[in-house]
Amino acid sequence: MPHIHFNQVLVFSPITHTQMTWADPGDRQGADFTTPGYWQGLARTLERGRFDGVFFADTLALPAESQASAADTMAFGSYFPRLDPFALIPYMASVTEHLGFGVTLSTAGTPPFLAVRRLGTLDNLTGGRVAWNVVTSHVRNDFEALGLTRPDHDSRYDQAEDYMEICYRLWDAFPRDAVVADREKGVYIDPARVGKVDFDGKYMKCHAYPVVMNSPQGRPLIFQAGQSGRGLSFAATHADAIYGLQPRLGAMTKFVEAADAAGLAAGKPDRPRVFFGLQPIIGGTEAEARAKRSALAKRVPVKTALSRFGAMIGADLDDRDLDQPLADVTTNASQGLLSAMLDVFEGRVPSIREAALHWGTSYGMPQLVGTPEQVADQIETFWRQSRCHGFNISPTVNPTSVEDFVDGVVPILRKRGLMRSDYEGRTFRDNLHA
Ligand SMILES: Cc1cc2nc3c(=O)[nH]c(=O)nc-3n(C[C@H](O)[C@H](O)[C@H](O)COP(=O)(O)O)c2cc1C
Repeated sequence: MPHIHFNQVLVFSPITHTQMTWADPGDRQGADFTTPGYWQGLARTLERGRFDGVFFADTLALPAESQASAADTMAFGSYFPRLDPFALIPYMASVTEHLGFGVTLSTAGTPPFLAVRRLGTLDNLTGGRVAWNVVTSHVRNDFEALGLTRPDHDSRYDQAEDYMEICYRLWDAFPRDAVVADREKGVYIDPARVGKVDFDGKYMKCHAYPVVMNSPQGRPLIFQAGQSGRGLSFAATHADAIYGLQPRLGAMTKFVEAADAAGLAAGKPDRPRVFFGLQPIIGGTEAEARAKRSALAKRVPVKTALSRFGAMIGADLDDRDLDQPLADVTTNASQGLLSAMLDVFEGRVPSIREAALHWGTSYGMPQLVGTPEQVADQIETFWRQSRCHGFNISPTVNPTSVEDFVDGVVPILRKRGLMRSDYEGRTFRDNLHA
């Protein structure tokens, strides 16, 4: 029976999406994020809640457009420091059996051969529980850190097509059954079953035998979060799951329709599985939940909100009058994120201050504020009406935010027959596709 799927979004830093959560007296992430036990606790809770997986969002460099905003980003611990989630996954996998792990790896800076090797290593070690969030990078600082020039929006996706083609060829060239390990014959690998990749594309080349065999789920699952027209067609072509960010139900429904159309145009047999970002803020009463939300919002300093927002839209906002309307903004960074963000204000053009503060609090995601019952009602409505596959949940103050959801909302959804009570299979693919 179809049911709602959930992934938990996390960032390997003192915060996830909401700025300054580390300063909340109840928060542990700020103090403990370099301690494996903190993340292992989250992994256990999420497996108890029968989440499909964890989704580690990640960018590379300090996301700031100017020196002043870089200092604010550091001072306010805004995704800074940010460690490499590849290293964290084995710790979390070692205390769970079914939970999947999505990890972000950019097509900028890591050649496809190395991406396939790193992801395949993790996928084998976890018994087939890894997904790759394919990003092309959009923040200018990421390219500068790598000594690269940021290509235009659409050509980043064009280059990524070559990148994906090399990955598919490497995956196809080393099936799992090539490992025969025949002691009698003294043959470990059947060389006839391992192919060599010879690819000369417009942007990339690869000439190699793959060195990592497929895992129990074949290749890693693929996540993608392109939201623009070009981004969505890339996602519908390649992804097992698309991460969408839409502020309202109407926009979610339209996005699912657009993803369906993109899937058809790409000749895909199944409908794309769309996951929408949501941020629940749960209280024992609605008033308590609202008070939590306003405490979170009050803590966000406009400076840090501005620097992160400026990096996302690719503009240095330090000298701008913050009460001017955010008009005529175009971006070579993330078109999808900017248009979702503007949609929050339902046609009204927000001031730069309003937009930045909204971004700093919620990252443009719908916030579901209320009791567990109220949050479950909203999730059920979003799921039924938009026809999405599930949701990527963004936490606030952690680990309580994850615990509130798993212990409060999950049992209600389960009682309504909307969530699994046990995993369908062992691999991430088995569970996400179920
Ligand atoms: C919900 C969502 C999550 C994203 N997460 C990441 C991320 O973790 N790391 C990253 O480098 N880019 C991330 N991106 C950026 C996208 O991968 C993409 O590069 C960007 O949105 C530009 O493409 P677009 O204009 O097609 O949306 C995210 C985008 C969205 C919408």
